[in-house]
Amino acid sequence: MAVERVLSGMRPTGSLHLGHYHGVLKNWVKLQHEHECLFFVADWHALTTHYDTPEIIEESVWEMVIDWIAAGVDPAKATIFVQSKVPEHAELHTLLSMITPLGWLERVPTYKDQQEKLAQKDLSTYGFLGYPLLQSADILIYKATQVPVGEDQIPHIEFTREIARRFNHIYGREKGFEEKAEAAIKKLGSKLGSLYEELRNRYQEGGDDEALESARAMIEEQQGLSLGDRERLLGYLEGGGKMILVEPEYKLTPASKMPGLDGQKMSKSYNNTISIRESPDMVAKKIKTMPTDPARIRLTDVGDPDKCPVWQLHEVYSSDETKAWVQQGCRTAGIGCIACKGPVIESVLEELKPIQERAAQYAEDPVLIKNVVAEGCERARKMARETMREVREVMGLSYS
Ligand code: TRP
Ligand code: SF4
Repeated sequence: MAVERVLSGMRPTGSLHLGHYHGVLKNWVKLQHEHECLFFVADWHALTTHYDTPEIIEESVWEMVIDWIAAGVDPAKATIFVQSKVPEHAELHTLLSMITPLGWLERVPTYKDQQEKLAQKDLSTYGFLGYPLLQSADILIYKATQVPVGEDQIPHIEFTREIARRFNHIYGREKGFEEKAEAAIKKLGSKLGSLYEELRNRYQEGGDDEALESARAMIEEQQGLSLGDRERLLGYLEGGGKMILVEPEYKLTPASKMPGLDGQKMSKSYNNTISIRESPDMVAKKIKTMPTDPARIRLTDVGDPDKCPVWQLHEVYSSDETKAWVQQGCRTAGIGCIACKGPVIESVLEELKPIQERAAQYAEDPVLIKNVVAEGCERARKMARETMREVREVMGLSYS
């Protein structure tokens, strides 16, 4: 298997809640053990829609990174950084804008959708139209191979793939490409060289995608190759020029099953959240005041868990035994709603305890979080500079 590089970003627009935790964050924590991972705060992206409330962005950046780490994202494993601290993203965005057809941007579904959804805001801006391209720059600058995102973001990843393809097509052609590629094959040695030829033929003549994958993996594993030769060999597989930018794949984040306090999906806009750093008292209060099956007015009225948002929380948090207790007790009026909520409150508090303990260390000492981010920015920037050097060179900008 070729080495995967995972990248994902999140907009800083407020504190994170259990919906984020059970959806995105747990997924990130899992991925950091499996692959090289980069996670960043998309502060410029937040400005594309919140340009008139910059103060929210500034407050949210640090708080959001604390929430990530509290949830288990480990700065020793994943690179954590802030988009605007790696200004190379903006440079790549500008350069990619030169080859981006306007129609491609206008056709991205979020463009019209969001303009309609956020109709109270004037989003007929240049920044908003170009925002998918900024996202492409975020991804392509690290040559990320996997991008974990929600469903709504899939068109952005597909758009990014098209941009990468177009870029490679325009700028990946160098004089004498075929000769250089053939010379690079020789450098693989006779055994690997023949394997490369065989896999390339299988792909080009028979459309064998597995052969393409194996050949790519084989090239990724070669330590001795120069960067240029590696790109030539990758590009030559598909017949084109050098593969300078890498087409990423999306990795759909498993949908969070976390219901909100009212039984709808947990979301800030529904005002039904429990935030990751909600105090234990507030957690208890919020759950105690949750609506239940409206048919249970008195303790003696029987209820139906299927009509109750508390049951949905049991589905996330409770053991089979507790769930059976709820089903039986609710349907026979054997338990009251307050008693029914008890185990849920306990489970949420138990889940949040270690998270909040970790958060407290960082909240007490702001220098800690700033150091983590500064280090991550440094690491990210090194990779970004490397890509920009190549991009500038092929775009005719490497004069000295
Ligand atoms: N657009 C994403 C969102 O709104 C955030 C984002 C920005 C992102 N750049 C990215 C996600 C790069 C993945 C990769 O949620
Ligand atoms: Fe809901 Fe539990 Fe009350 Fe039944 S007993 S209505 S499941 S809170």
